[in-house]
Amino acid sequence: MARQYLVAGNWKMYGHRASIEALVKGINAGLSSLPKVQVLVCPPAPYLAEVAHSAGVNLAVGAQNIAAQEQEGALTGEVLGAMLKEVGCSHVIVGHSERRALFGDSDAIVAQKVRAALIAGLVPILCVGETLAEREGGQTEEVIARQLDAVFALSPTASLHKLVIAYEPVWAIGTGKTATPEQAQAVHQFIRGRIAAVDAKLAGSTRLLYGGSVKPDNAALIFGQPDVDGGLIGGASLKAADFLAICTAAQLQAV
Ligand code: 13P
Repeated sequence: MARQYLVAGNWKMYGHRASIEALVKGINAGLSSLPKVQVLVCPPAPYLAEVAHSAGVNLAVGAQNIAAQEQEGALTGEVLGAMLKEVGCSHVIVGHSERRALFGDSDAIVAQKVRAALIAGLVPILCVGETLAEREGGQTEEVIARQLDAVFALSPTASLHKLVIAYEPVWAIGTGKTATPEQAQAVHQFIRGRIAAVDAKLAGSTRLLYGGSVKPDNAALIFGQPDVDGGLIGGASLKAADFLAICTAAQLQAV
């Protein structure tokens, strides 16, 4: 089955107006040669509207976080899904390991955020992944199953047809240590199987991204794995040339 790869750049809390303008310009300029890849950038929140305005038609924009609540209210500092949608976002990253580890995003809160995203009409990119201690303790599958099951418990699978899942092993994020293609494939296969246990059709259509030190020189091997449908790219998405090279690696797989 022909797959459409999704390559997403997570810019985290990096950049300023001028650098972000230059980055968007650089990425826009390279997109015409990537018709088979869906390309998404996730800038810091203050720049979302501007990036959505300047992005070309083939560049989608996503947020890095969303309020767990589904309605507006007295929630200082939070951002409602409908607001993200209104300024031009189509996607939102939910449950990134940095938010789970540093900002108290528990499995239950992440599940609420996925639901809030769906209600707002945004595509949630649900991040899951184990720490190094969990991997070394043989708990990888248990941890990922728990992270997935929390989402399935709150959102009926019929509502999850737009869901994207990103497997991001915590030990590979920003460390330069990528999972081997085989390690990535093994976990992606496990994730697809876990989805299939609740809904076989959904398992076939859900896009599974790999994230964690993806670079131009390792992207092709990772994207070549049967259950890898794209990538969530951190550091390398902050340089247009590197990000486009990673997108090109996806394009070459998508024949
Ligand atoms: P790096 O690509 O910098 O390892 O970051 C991965 C990530 O966290 C993307 O969400």
